[in-house]
Amino acid sequence: MSTQTALPGSHFSYRHGELFCENISVKMLARRYGTPLYVYSQAEILQALAKYENSLKDWPHLICYAVKANSNFSILQLLAQHGCGFDIVSGGELLKVKAAGADMGKVTYSGVGKTEEEIRLALRSEIKSFNVESASELNRLSRLAAQVSKQARISIRINPDVNAHTHPYISTGLKENKFGVSPQVAFSLYRQAKEDPWLCPIGIDCHIGSQLTEISPYIQACETVVNLLDRLTREGIYLEHIDFGGGVGVRYRDEPVIDLAALTKELHTILAQRGYGHLSMIFEPGRSIVASSGLLIGQVQYIKTTETKNFLISDTAMTEMIRPALYQAWMPILEVSAKPQLQEKLYDIVGPVCESSDWLGKQRALKIAEGDYFAVAMAGAYGMSMASTYNCRNLPAEILVDRDRYRQIRRRLPVEDQWAAEMPETITEKALG
Ligand code: LLP
Repeated sequence: MSTQTALPGSHFSYRHGELFCENISVKMLARRYGTPLYVYSQAEILQALAKYENSLKDWPHLICYAVKANSNFSILQLLAQHGCGFDIVSGGELLKVKAAGADMGKVTYSGVGKTEEEIRLALRSEIKSFNVESASELNRLSRLAAQVSKQARISIRINPDVNAHTHPYISTGLKENKFGVSPQVAFSLYRQAKEDPWLCPIGIDCHIGSQLTEISPYIQACETVVNLLDRLTREGIYLEHIDFGGGVGVRYRDEPVIDLAALTKELHTILAQRGYGHLSMIFEPGRSIVASSGLLIGQVQYIKTTETKNFLISDTAMTEMIRPALYQAWMPILEVSAKPQLQEKLYDIVGPVCESSDWLGKQRALKIAEGDYFAVAMAGAYGMSMASTYNCRNLPAEILVDRDRYRQIRRRLPVEDQWAAEMPETITEKALG
């Protein structure tokens, strides 16, 4: 291969120069289903889930997959079938995990902006816990719980003011971020909840950011949480779980990857030393469960050479994978078919969307020609779930591969569906004036 880029996981390989996902040829899938196309390896997802399960050993724990990372119905079903819980952030995610067979007693609900309708829905669904992010939310929760006569189990999200050393857009544990409340405010909210018959404090929550590459911010956050637990215990408030928020970061390029077993051991040691070893450890991983499972396949439409660069203009764009445009993220880009006879060149891989931010990779060495397919790897997380129809582009299809078999887990809808809800006969309001 011309590319130096490593394959994303053990379930991808080149066989006679052709990229395979498990035992299925990616080129065959691209030809059959067209591009842009997402292709996922089921074994890769289950392996990532097992890694969490194994690292948490027989300590009490629960994995609540963060649905936002990839909310494909079949992927949710697969995870539910393997005993996974879910972390949701909207009524839509709640209804989707429910439909996919989730055990609602294993669902945590995060997010700063839960509406009344969403809260009522979650109360009626008897979810495990609301991760409460403000005093106003706690008050709203109490009022609605009384209304529907269902006690709300809560966990208050602490903002520990810890620098997670990640991209500013996905860092959430600093004072200046909109997430969580200070330990001081949390303490008074727990006291308030204890006195409220409609609220039942069962946990404490702390998510400091995504794509974390160091253990130390987790440890700092854990210490803040444990200090607060001491104060709560003195107050007669006993909790059942500690939710550490999202999972560990992944390797897109050369980032250090946290050793999950070492992390969980360190966290559990702190808990055990401070007398909280019996509390259940909850993690809400998204990226590290699905990122490495996914490839986004595109086809080269044109190669355009200017005075300064070679542009590889593809049919796949920021609409299918916004991470490079939004976070200047580096995603691996691989040839789908090895072409050793071609000259290796540096390309900026761009899409057809009318914005200069529409790029997937810059200055990538590839041996590739017009008409060839390429794969954006590590694309299983925050790819399809952040896709849009900007420029009236159609959303991609998705395929799930399981060893020698594969199935389409999302079909490409007719593009007309995009404007069906805009037709006069589907709009019921009276015309203005
Ligand atoms: N729990 C909460 C409350 C979260 O806000 C997040 C992610 C997670 C769990 C999952 O974190 P993970 O295990 O995936 O790191 N679109 C961005 C990532 C946004 C993350 C938002 N919150 C990206 O593509 O990098």
